[in-house]
Amino acid sequence: MRTRICGSGSALPKLEVTNDDLSKIMDTSDEWIKSRTGICSRHLATDETLSSLAADAALQALEEAGIAPEELDMILAATLSADRLLPTLSCELQQRLGAGKAVAFDINAACSGFLFALQTADVYIKSGQYQKILVVGGEILSKLMDWEDRSTCVLFGDGAGAAVVCPDETFGILSSVQGSDGARGEVLSCENRKNNNPYVTNSTKPSYVSMDGQEVYKFAVRTVPKAILEAVERAGLTVDEIDVFLLHQANIRIITSVSKRLGVPLEKFPTNLENCGNISAGSVPILLDHVNRRGMLKKGDKVVLAGFGAGLTWGASVLTW
Ligand code: UT7
Repeated sequence: MRTRICGSGSALPKLEVTNDDLSKIMDTSDEWIKSRTGICSRHLATDETLSSLAADAALQALEEAGIAPEELDMILAATLSADRLLPTLSCELQQRLGAGKAVAFDINAACSGFLFALQTADVYIKSGQYQKILVVGGEILSKLMDWEDRSTCVLFGDGAGAAVVCPDETFGILSSVQGSDGARGEVLSCENRKNNNPYVTNSTKPSYVSMDGQEVYKFAVRTVPKAILEAVERAGLTVDEIDVFLLHQANIRIITSVSKRLGVPLEKFPTNLENCGNISAGSVPILLDHVNRRGMLKKGDKVVLAGFGAGLTWGASVLTW
């Protein structure tokens, strides 16, 4: 039995902010951002919430899958920026969708979150415990950015993507690889609230995402090709047999480097970072949906999905579409 993606969806906030727009409010330029990252614009949430974006994406995925919300057995939401600490994004989604039967919980593995959630869904489906699972990845990262730190805030965007997965005899996930290295976690971090009770003294200044970009870059270009190769080998395939590589959309230079290290033409690596920026857990499912809706995936195509980021964490899956 395999786990097949039978529907996808995505939603971006309506406000699109270009590099030139940012250069009017901070010391940056379109030239710097585009040449360092490939990003030209990103969408930022104003009146949208993460649960509203995720619900839009989920409804599209359910429609394509031909599944009603009430039929869902499980909702897994990958995020590091849920609207609230409690209830979880997945439970908010359950309420918005009217998916009363589903068990719902969140997974936080930062930019690898969607991969880890999809791989978790795969295990539940293979075990026979659940059949119809909604997997969502989304972020409103703009609220976690220090808008006075030009080295991070220009890189990220907001949005949500969704996939509905079901059991299938033939098509679906062939293999998966996951990894974590908590020892290197400090290179990309964001503090939660500090201890706060009558027995501690603290200053409760808000904390923002901070990143050692070059260390994350080195980690990504070394780890992602290895993870992809391992997943492809486990699937009994070679990289030449893969039709499409859908990578976490952090930086076009990382994607180019991965394609070179694998010896695979860059044309097999579609991107949307140009107009989305890095949406962490939202990045892979949004790209998957964009590619799916453009008709770029044919039945039986071999697809690689790969995510990497804070933790540090990384994950790759190989599937037949
Ligand atoms: O999903 C999580 C994954 N995260 C990533 O994958 C991030 C990986 N890392 C990267 O993508 C790159 O390291 C960055 C895009 C973050 C940075 O690119 P870089 O080529 O490593 O640039 P840099 O850090 O070496 O910065 C070079 C210069 C610095 O100026 P000085 O010290 O050389 O004078 C920065 O102050 O660029 C300056 N700078 C900027 N200038 C204009 C930093 N941010 C900006 C900016 N606009 N927004």
